[in-house]
Amino acid sequence: MSEPYFVTGALGCIGAWVVKTLVDRGDVPVVFDLSDDQRRLRQVMDEDALARVRFLRGDITDAGAVADAIRESEARRVIHLAGLQVPFCKADPSLGARVNVVGTVNIFEASKNAGVERVVYASSAAVYGPPEDDAAPDEAAACEPATHYGVYKRANEGNARIYRQDDGLSSVGLRPLTVYGVGRDQGLTSGPTRAMKAAVVGRPFTIPFSGATDFNYVADTAAAFVECAARAPDGAHVFNLHGDSVEIERIVATIDALAEDDAKGLVRFEGPPLPIPPELDGKAIHTAVRDLPETPLEEGIRETMERFRALRADGRLDTSDLAS
Ligand SMILES: NC(=O)c1ccc[n+]([C@@H]2O[C@H](COP(=O)([O-])OP(=O)(O)OC[C@H]3O[C@@H](n4cnc5c(N)ncnc54)[C@H](O)[C@@H]3O)[C@@H](O)[C@H]2O)c1
Repeated sequence: MSEPYFVTGALGCIGAWVVKTLVDRGDVPVVFDLSDDQRRLRQVMDEDALARVRFLRGDITDAGAVADAIRESEARRVIHLAGLQVPFCKADPSLGARVNVVGTVNIFEASKNAGVERVVYASSAAVYGPPEDDAAPDEAAACEPATHYGVYKRANEGNARIYRQDDGLSSVGLRPLTVYGVGRDQGLTSGPTRAMKAAVVGRPFTIPFSGATDFNYVADTAAAFVECAARAPDGAHVFNLHGDSVEIERIVATIDALAEDDAKGLVRFEGPPLPIPPELDGKAIHTAVRDLPETPLEEGIRETMERFRALRADGRLDTSDLAS
């Protein structure tokens, strides 16, 4: 049975893949985003698929607009991705708090009032601070975020728990770390994907961090959001997302191996490690929601570079994110 899913931030990277996944399943995404720029959606979906999406334009900081949109969508499942990433929260912490914290409260409040069954929202591995030892933290580990962004995401997890306690509203907060794939063109951890694009167009590129990180292929990340919205157990859950924990050297070597001969050796990395543990313990979500996809790293990078090549051949590859 086809169902409406209300998706905020759907014109972003993860959002585009969530929308694609919902259409592929035969469901109806009702998209709510501040932007009307469909560029990322068009990178992953064709016109026929796009014709099955309902677009609403709005700002999650506007409680009235959010309430009207969720009610009108008649969705029982909400996937909340809209938010400002680390550099934007650092540049304007007050705006960051309005969008990431107040905006998320608006989504919960409207969902409660509209009788929504479950809200699945983007938290982040940035709720953890710099690693203190080599252990991969699970969901019970202490959280000492090193950024405003991480503090805001942690606040959302607390508010989700209170909405369950006081109002019975079920939720799942998912904590990805470094999501990669077509559409990943902004944010602290977008460097590896921009490097894949640079290799495809034959330009030099430096990934601005070192060390290891936990890589999540965006198709798998999107599937986790959709499957949790569809069938997670009741409660206020928070789950880490674990993909492949790898050194940046290996990412660079894999990109190089998949690059054309005249584009090898163009990708480098330099800079400090990310202030987030390089590996998360991701077992809990697989116990709660079985059979989630786990694309191997090489396959995810290959698919991403092939898609970039196809977009380039079509004259549709946006390279504006390679400028910085
Ligand atoms: N990409 C990652 O590696 C990663 C990792 C951890 C967590 N997350 C979280 O996942 C979510 C999605 O990430 P992404 O990479 O797709 O982000 P993105 O920056 O590509 O997209 C964010 C979307 O939110 C929309 N938006 C921003 N402010 C809005 C507002 N006030 N009202 C309505 N829409 C608004 C933007 O227009 C954009 O379409 C975010 O909440 C992000 O913090 C992402």
